[in-house]
Amino acid sequence: MSFQVTVQPSERVYAVEADETLLAAAIREGIGLPYGCKDGACGSCKCRLLEGQVQLGPHQPKALSEEERAQGLILTCCARPQSDVVLEARTVPGAGQFPVLKLPSRVISITRPTADVAVLRLQLPANQNFQFHAGQYVEFILRDGSRRSYSMANAPSHLGTPAAIELHIRHMPGGKFTDHVFGAMKEKDILRMEGPFGSFFLREDSARPIVLLASGTGFAPIKAMLEHIQAKGLRRPIHLYWGCRSKADLYLDDWAHQTAATMGAQLRYIPVLSEPKPEDGWTGRTGFVHQAVMADLPDLSGHEIYACGAPAMVNAAQADFVARCGLPEDAFYADAFTSEADKQNPV
Ligand SMILES: Cc1cc2nc3c(=O)[nH]c(=O)nc-3n(C[C@H](O)[C@H](O)[C@H](O)COP(=O)(O)OP(=O)(O)OC[C@H]3O[C@@H](n4cnc5c(N)ncnc54)[C@H](O)[C@@H]3O)c2cc1C
Ligand code: FES
Repeated sequence: MSFQVTVQPSERVYAVEADETLLAAAIREGIGLPYGCKDGACGSCKCRLLEGQVQLGPHQPKALSEEERAQGLILTCCARPQSDVVLEARTVPGAGQFPVLKLPSRVISITRPTADVAVLRLQLPANQNFQFHAGQYVEFILRDGSRRSYSMANAPSHLGTPAAIELHIRHMPGGKFTDHVFGAMKEKDILRMEGPFGSFFLREDSARPIVLLASGTGFAPIKAMLEHIQAKGLRRPIHLYWGCRSKADLYLDDWAHQTAATMGAQLRYIPVLSEPKPEDGWTGRTGFVHQAVMADLPDLSGHEIYACGAPAMVNAAQADFVARCGLPEDAFYADAFTSEADKQNPV
C-alpha cells in the first residue's frame, strides 16, 4: 500500500510505501528534502506536517522535543505514513541530482596524521560514475548489515587518478567500525558502501559571506567544500574556524594555512584549541570554537554558516548564533557526527 506526499511550497509530489519512511522515499525519488543522520538523532530533517497522519518511530528528544511534536513538527527520517500527507519543508536545490549507488571501494592507503585520526583513500570502481556534492557522505555497509557514515574530504574535482575518495576517521574506542579501521584494516581491503547522501553542501544561489565551522574530523567535508570553492573560482568571503583539543589534533593545520595563503584575502583561517598542552607552546585562540566565531563576528545576520563535527558543538553553535548573533534560522547548515552513543534513550 502506498500514500502520496506533497511538499510545500515546492509542490513536489511523491509516493511512499506504508512501511517506509517519508525520507527514504524522498531520497529514492530525488525530492531534495533536507537531512543528516537518517536515524532520528540530529534533527536536520525536521519539518511541519500540514495535513495527514504519520507514525513517528523512536528518535532523540534533542532531535525533536515533545513541545515541537505538539506544535506539529515531525522528523521525516522516523515518520511512516498512515494517510496521504502534506509537508512544509524547504527543499534543497541539487540534493537529488546524483543517483545513490551501492558500490565496492578498495583501500589504497591508510595514514595516521595523529594518534586517533586515520586518513583513508578509497579507490572507486572505474565502471561506475560515482558523483557527489562536496560536503556529502557515504555509508559503509558492515557485515551485520549495520551502517556507518563518513564525509568525503575531497571535492569531486580533486578525486585524482585513479579516482579515489578521501575520508577522515576518528577512532572511537569500542566502536564497531573504527576499532576495525584502527586494528585490522589494511591496504587492498574491499569495503561495501552506498552514497552519496546528505544535504550538507554549499548553497551556490547565495552571495552571503560564509563561515565554515569544524570540530575534529568535522574538518573533512569542510576541506572538500574549500576545494570545491577554489575549483569553481567562487569569490565569496570565507572565515574558516577549526576547533580541536590540542595542537596535534589539528591534523591538517599546514594544509589549512597553505590554502589560506593561496586564497589570500578571501579566506581567513582561525584554529582554536580547547585544551592546549604546555608543550604545544600555543599562542593562538583558545576555548570553544563556536564562541570564537561569536567573539569575532557578533553580527551574523548577513552570513551563512556551514558547521560540522561533534553534535554538542553543532547544537550549541546553532542555538547561540541564532539567539545571540542574529543569524537567520535558515542560514545554518550542518552535519552532526552522531554515533551509536548518541542514539541511546530514544523516545
Ligand atoms: C552524516 C554523518 C557523517 C559522519 N562523518 C564522519 C566523518 O567524516 N568522520 C568521522 O570520524 N565520523 C563521522 N561520522 C560518525 C561515524 O558515522 C560513526 O558514528 C563513528 O565513526 C563511530 O563509529 P563506530 O562504528 O566506530 O562506533 P559505534 O559502534 O557507533 O560506537 C560509537 C561509540 O559509542 C559506544 N557505544 C556503542 N554502542 C553503545 C551503546 N549501546 N551505549 C553506549 N555507548 C555505545 C562505543 O563504545 C563507541 O565509543 C559521521 C556521522 C554522520 C551521522
Ligand atoms: S536526519 Fe532525521 S534526525 Fe537526523
